[in-house]
Amino acid sequence: MILSHAGPSTTDTPTATLEVSRAADFRVAMRELAAGVTIITAGREHGRRGLTATAVCSVSADPPTLLVCINRSAEGHAAITESGSFCVNVIAVEHQRLAERFAGRDGARGAERFDHGEWRALATGAPVLADAIAAFDCQLVQAIEAGTHTVFIGAVTATTVSPQRAALLYRAGSFAAAG
Ligand SMILES: Cc1cc2nc3c(=O)[nH]c(=O)nc-3n(C[C@H](O)[C@H](O)[C@H](O)COP(=O)(O)O)c2cc1C
Repeated sequence: MILSHAGPSTTDTPTATLEVSRAADFRVAMRELAAGVTIITAGREHGRRGLTATAVCSVSADPPTLLVCINRSAEGHAAITESGSFCVNVIAVEHQRLAERFAGRDGARGAERFDHGEWRALATGAPVLADAIAAFDCQLVQAIEAGTHTVFIGAVTATTVSPQRAALLYRAGSFAAAG
């Protein structure tokens, strides 16, 4: 059984140790949350940047709005801020290598990551994966700082859908198929 640290700090437990432990507990628990895998992109041509992300959530259908949570250290973070737009590409099982690439696992960085896959643009100019299961092209409307990450809220300006394939999921450090 894994214990959590929900209570207040005690005098015999140094605060720093407790906070590190809370972060570790949080990561261990979050690993159990199965999530659909996306590649979030921004920028144009040599300025294109992208990262693999699961922290994506619908906010509202009217108007169509979603949010993504991006680490401030990620290459894509500045590209989103500077371009004022981003695209959420929902990917399929056959895109696992691409997911690994955009998570930095094959060493490719910057616009080089887009050498694999077929990339287009819709309304905002952010890169859209041509064979994504779905894509949400978004205009950035709000950015909220939260810990190490920024919550970017996007107004969806265009979508693509091509759902007849198994989606790529991520749970407990492993990729899996859904559907
Ligand atoms: C399955 C998976 C999900 C991820 N989800 C997120 C996420 O939601 N937000 C985020 O900022 N990074 C996420 N990452 C980490 C980034 O993909 C990784 O740090 C990436 O290399 C971005 O940094 P870079 O572009 O500077 O290399 C995830 C990685 C993986 C493998």
